[in-house]
Amino acid sequence: MTIEKGNFGSIDNKPVEYFILKNKTGIEAKIITLGATLVSLKTPDRRGNFADIVLGFDDAKEYMNDTRYFGCTVGRFANRIANAKFTLDGKEYKISPNNGQHHLHGGKVGFNKVLWKAEPFENQSDKGVLFKYFSKDGEEGFPGNLDVRVTYTLTDDDELKIEYAAVTDKNTIVNLTNHSYFNLAGHDIENAYSYLVQHLMQINADSVTESDNELIPTGKFLKVENTHYDFRKPVSIGWKMGKGYDINYVLNKQSASELSFAAKIVELKSGRVMEISTTEPGIQFYTGNFLNGVKGKGGTVYNKQTAFCLETQHYPDSPNQPEFPSTVLKPGETYRHLTVHKFSVQ
Ligand code: BGC
Repeated sequence: MTIEKGNFGSIDNKPVEYFILKNKTGIEAKIITLGATLVSLKTPDRRGNFADIVLGFDDAKEYMNDTRYFGCTVGRFANRIANAKFTLDGKEYKISPNNGQHHLHGGKVGFNKVLWKAEPFENQSDKGVLFKYFSKDGEEGFPGNLDVRVTYTLTDDDELKIEYAAVTDKNTIVNLTNHSYFNLAGHDIENAYSYLVQHLMQINADSVTESDNELIPTGKFLKVENTHYDFRKPVSIGWKMGKGYDINYVLNKQSASELSFAAKIVELKSGRVMEISTTEPGIQFYTGNFLNGVKGKGGTVYNKQTAFCLETQHYPDSPNQPEFPSTVLKPGETYRHLTVHKFSVQ
């Protein structure tokens, strides 16, 4: 086994472990058992210089206190559920409100704040870690025992794959994602804000789900054409920033659940390129509007709009929006989600 393993601090006297996956290019992904969280990701620029391109912390306790969801696995339900309630099979479920009266990213103790069991694995061209978590019936108000698996795989083709699977013993709802904040120039680059201007992004979506001022979908789909949401062709992220983005894109798909192209980002100065494909119907584009001097790795201070998230997932508030693709999971079915991040330079 060539996967490095070590200690990343502790939570309630329980050790948090880290695993470092390294491929033949030298790309390195470091993941911890708290929240099955990606804590660092080192990739080369066009000259072969490596930088860590995700925001994060140096110690498990800082992740435990984090309210920004740096790099973690988000669940049982990513994004907002209006008024922290939904109806399933005629029964109303109240889940924990943690964003005003709304539910956000799994509630007070979401999947990001729990310890996962980890099993590293490797074969000729892939290295990975399988994380397992058992979420009890009633946790944060959700029905059904949920057996969850998240697998990170780093391939020699410079892909970081995140694969999710879940089964339940009662009808429930599931929406899982990863919440990494990226800056392809490096998480600790000086004047990080100005670097977002040098990130050209393309999103394969003709529309977004319109939301109200509390970021709850109105149920309407908005065409991106002639709006600042239009990333159908590569455009600078920072150039159009304004108040910043926090919006769900409806990905163009030939068929539901196919693995298809979602987004591509090129950072002009370093030449780093990240291409995202996913089986999910949506992607939340968020520009770190709520970062306000968060002290992160190596003492780096993360400020507003110095990084971006592209969270592949079902649309926000799906359980209350009958027109949106369903997030219901029933006994006997398996929730599956695959997202691939492919790295290259140009
Ligand atoms: C949401 C933001 C939220 C942030 C929390 C993002 O996924 O879109 O509205 O504030 O997560 O860090």
